[in-house]
Amino acid sequence: MLKCFATTSGGLSELLREELMTLGAKNVKAQPRGVTFEGSKELAYRACLWSRLANRVFITVLEAELDNQEQLTTSIAALNWQEHMDLRDSFAVSFSGKGMGIDHSHYGALKIKDGIVDYFMAKTSDRPQVDTVNPNLRVHGHLNRNQLTLSIDLVGYSLHQRGYREGQQVKAPLKENIAAALLLRSGWPEIAKQGGSLYDPMCGSGTFLIEAAMMASDAAPGLDKQDRMLLNQWKQHDSLLWNRLVDEARARKVTGLQNMPAIYGSDASHKSLDIAEEAILNSGYFKHISVKQMTVEQGRIWGDWPTGLVISNPPYGERLGEVEEVKRIYTALGNYLKEEFDGWQAAVFTCNPELGMYLGLKAKRSHKFANGPLEGKLFRFDVIETYHREPAIKGGANLADGVQTAYPDLSETEGAKMFANRLKKNVKPLRKWAKKYEVNAYRVYDADMPEYALSIDYYHTLEGGEWLVVNEYAPPKTVDKTRAKKRLYEALSVLPTVFDIPTSQIVFKVREKQKGSSQYEKLDENKQFFTVIENGVKLRVNFTDYLDTGLFLDHRDVRAYVAEKSRRKSLLNLFCYTATLTAQAA
Ligand SMILES: C[S@@+](CC[C@H](N)C(=O)[O-])C[C@H]1O[C@@H](n2cnc3c(N)ncnc32)[C@H](O)[C@@H]1O
Repeated sequence: MLKCFATTSGGLSELLREELMTLGAKNVKAQPRGVTFEGSKELAYRACLWSRLANRVFITVLEAELDNQEQLTTSIAALNWQEHMDLRDSFAVSFSGKGMGIDHSHYGALKIKDGIVDYFMAKTSDRPQVDTVNPNLRVHGHLNRNQLTLSIDLVGYSLHQRGYREGQQVKAPLKENIAAALLLRSGWPEIAKQGGSLYDPMCGSGTFLIEAAMMASDAAPGLDKQDRMLLNQWKQHDSLLWNRLVDEARARKVTGLQNMPAIYGSDASHKSLDIAEEAILNSGYFKHISVKQMTVEQGRIWGDWPTGLVISNPPYGERLGEVEEVKRIYTALGNYLKEEFDGWQAAVFTCNPELGMYLGLKAKRSHKFANGPLEGKLFRFDVIETYHREPAIKGGANLADGVQTAYPDLSETEGAKMFANRLKKNVKPLRKWAKKYEVNAYRVYDADMPEYALSIDYYHTLEGGEWLVVNEYAPPKTVDKTRAKKRLYEALSVLPTVFDIPTSQIVFKVREKQKGSSQYEKLDENKQFFTVIENGVKLRVNFTDYLDTGLFLDHRDVRAYVAEKSRRKSLLNLFCYTATLTAQAA
């Protein structure tokens, strides 16, 4: 049984402990900067290959209680170093901790190096080379008062460097193992198994996207750089065992890739996306991850994505004066989530947790996470209406106004363009007809395209100019709510241009299956009436206070007929309701 230590970034020890336990480690204990554990050589190798959270994996070769500084060198010289390296191999030593007057890491490392050299001088009358850049063996000493722990670094570099970002100059990206930890805490592995999608709307260099793809495809994070790990040069290396584990990891990835969920990213910055695209290419997941330039303010889903996880780390305004701008971005992100991701899980990581409240969503959980020297928080949300702190866009009468403000670009989608064309086709002959017969209020659209289930009524009023009244036929439960909402917003986004009517004069209402007298109940109380002339009669309509305006456009012919027939006659209108027919008859 080997005694091992895996280091990790601050705050990830508990997650690393859980990860190592799933790999089969025994006696696993979380420490402030890593995890101690025990296991076979196979287990230590698996940790190097499979840990998404560790930075380095060490095996302990000596634990000693020292009486004085001298013993630091002599106890090391007493170890059988030829079990670990040959004379012709080079080595490097690092040191941490302090004790017995040794409080300088360089001095501690020197003492250990002397011990190794003394061993070889005694055995071979020669000394191995020290190479701090490219050694064959890396030895690490840790001193806690007089307790020495000496270990061999099986990896030799920090495991968070998976390889897909090699050579890239990335400004402050999320470290790969921190991104992996955030994904694990957000439940991504379970969501991926159920076929859910992943989306990062501020993906920057694409760390979440690639780490998520690696998890979903069951790819070992150490696989791409496995031949660079120092364990390959260790004298006790078991290459048969290692090759078996590498082959197994390759096979698992092949299987994993057959069942990949869709992964998407977007970002405002072209430059970040160039970097992301290069990293995605390097990682080999270019078929599974797609990215797009888009701000969260313009944000919208650009396909039929299965419900899943939205995860992001938005900017947090490091510089003075940026905070106001950043608050606006969080609000835009919150609106985007509420509008397009109903039913999804969301996770937002920020190094300025106060900004979380600007999302306008109630978090179900939050977790502390360090990001380098910064203390951050991961907020997790169920994006469902119950947890909205405020509606993203005010529904009701002024929805068209909200859509125009929040989604200035929505009118450019294929769907919106098709809908606009349909309207234009309807309007042209109707305008001619209305002019000829002096009709000032008429229906221009009635769910002609079933996916845009709306009715749109046009009113030309005496005092208020032109108005549109839009009624949405509430979608049946079988229709995806998010998609239905997107279509509604697409439709509302084109109305001002097609009709040349300001959004303040486009009124929106939802027409649900009516129960009892709900149809007649008040929606609002503006008491704002406008006059429409029909058949030479002035009729008053109200656009906002009730579901109906008071003038039933589909009864226009009946009104004209009754008015004609009741000439010079008395008329008793039972059930007269808004009395438009009576007025015309009179
Ligand atoms: C902290 S970085 C994300 C880093 C990323 N997780 C990575 O690992 O590279 C924040 C990102 O938000 C993007 N961003 C800022 N404002 C935005 C907006 N309004 N809409 C979309 N992206 C925005 C920036 O371009 C930047 O890439």
